Amino acid sequence: MEDTIVLYASAMHMNSMLVLAKFISKHYPSTPVVILGSVADSAAASIATVPSITYHCLPPPVRPPNFTTDPIELLFEIPRLNNPGLSDALQEVSRKSRIKAFVIDFFCNSAFDVSTALNIPTYFYVSSGAFGLCPFLYFPTIDETVPADLGELNDFVQIPGCPPIYSSDFARIMLYRQNNSYKHFVDTARNMRKSTGIIANGFDALEVRAKEALTNGLCIPNAPTPPVYLVGPLVHETNSKNGGVEHACVKWLDSQPSKSVVFLCFGRWGLFSAEQLKEMALGLENSGHRFLWCVRSPPGKQNSAAAEEPDLEELLPKGFLERTKDKGFVIKSWAPQKEVLRHDSVAGFVTHCGRSSILEAVSLGVPMITWPLYAEQRMNRVFMVEEIKVALPLEETADGFVTAVELEKRVRELMDSKTGRAVRQRVAEMKSSAAAAVLENGSSLVALEKFMVAVTRV
Ligand SMILES: *[C@@H]1O[C@H](CO)[C@@H](O)[C@H](O)[C@H]1NC(C)=O
Ligand SMILES: *[C@@H]1O[C@H](CO)[C@@H](O)[C@H](O)[C@H]1NC(C)=O
Repeated sequence: MEDTIVLYASAMHMNSMLVLAKFISKHYPSTPVVILGSVADSAAASIATVPSITYHCLPPPVRPPNFTTDPIELLFEIPRLNNPGLSDALQEVSRKSRIKAFVIDFFCNSAFDVSTALNIPTYFYVSSGAFGLCPFLYFPTIDETVPADLGELNDFVQIPGCPPIYSSDFARIMLYRQNNSYKHFVDTARNMRKSTGIIANGFDALEVRAKEALTNGLCIPNAPTPPVYLVGPLVHETNSKNGGVEHACVKWLDSQPSKSVVFLCFGRWGLFSAEQLKEMALGLENSGHRFLWCVRSPPGKQNSAAAEEPDLEELLPKGFLERTKDKGFVIKSWAPQKEVLRHDSVAGFVTHCGRSSILEAVSLGVPMITWPLYAEQRMNRVFMVEEIKVALPLEETADGFVTAVELEKRVRELMDSKTGRAVRQRVAEMKSSAAAAVLENGSSLVALEKFMVAVTRV
């Protein structure tokens, strides 16, 4: 019987799981990898050319009546509905091969019980790297020892391996104990503590202190820490949408001076109010710098035709597009982010601090201005600004608004100041380290090898 690795991801994390699968297959092409998931076409298409990977789509679960509608809870609860199908799939794979490792993303936490009942060594894959992992693994300790909910604490929390993080900067699901999402989160962290190992999308040089804390077992007091494999930076190969046809914004970048353009892009769910968009426009215009800006329709217009096509004339200040036509380029809804970040004309990136955006920017050496919006992005900001020092922060008002004056100030700071130069220098160093990590004997490949050795030894 053959040894097999099985990966299982929720719809939310399937793309990063596919990247991990391809990374394993590239370096260990003779190890079969089976991917389980509940998204059919795109996942299967993405691995169609890799002979050692197969994709198996689980039967769609039926939602019982009165099922939760909370979007975060759904992310955890839908995989739970998939458990019977998952159990069948794992047993079917086991009939033909030995499952040496079952790797799940954290929304698939409910699968932990299924695989451990079948005695399959179970690993977690976290796309957040060592800095994201430290708060995660330490969280059950916070849950047990900090009397107040983080949402009420109003103080810094010290986590091994991390700079102090202000309580309200934690992800929303970590804030209130009575919240069901919180329960899912703590339960996931507890299972992660008991897992066979954890694969994380970071790399040693980026996350020195966090890696050390994990290696020394500081994030799980009183119990051993599972081995952590930092196999990153794993970034999506391309996010080009229109198969080889160059996007107009890339052509525009070609005509701009080297390292002159600030790029603003905020991910799949990064939406701003019309008021905030107008303010951003003013800030950009007043900065006097060149910009490439991906604008999406404000929330509430997302289910209409306007979601695809924001009305720029209506959303942006009167005359803005005309006044800035020599310096700025506004794209509607979607930008080929990686192509843009790779472009020589790009000098900075205003980002929502999504993990994959950060890793792309670091790998491509683009300094950042942080504008976190949701999930764990405020924690990511702390790491980017205070620990790794590859980004400048934007200050928000209490209700999360960023003024034109603030944006202008930070753009100028990044482009024209000594602080900006230091950040630029630092991210250039990280770019080299990121490239070195994936070379022979680099930290990423060494970690992958350790994982494969651990997997095949059992
Ligand atoms: C629980 O947290 C989610 C966000 O994670 C939020 O949308 C929801 O309103 C919260 N529910 C309660 C009961 O606090
Ligand atoms: C990688 O390490 C091995 C063993 O230490 C060594 O023989 C080999 O030359 C190294 N390769 C590179 C590219 O440094």
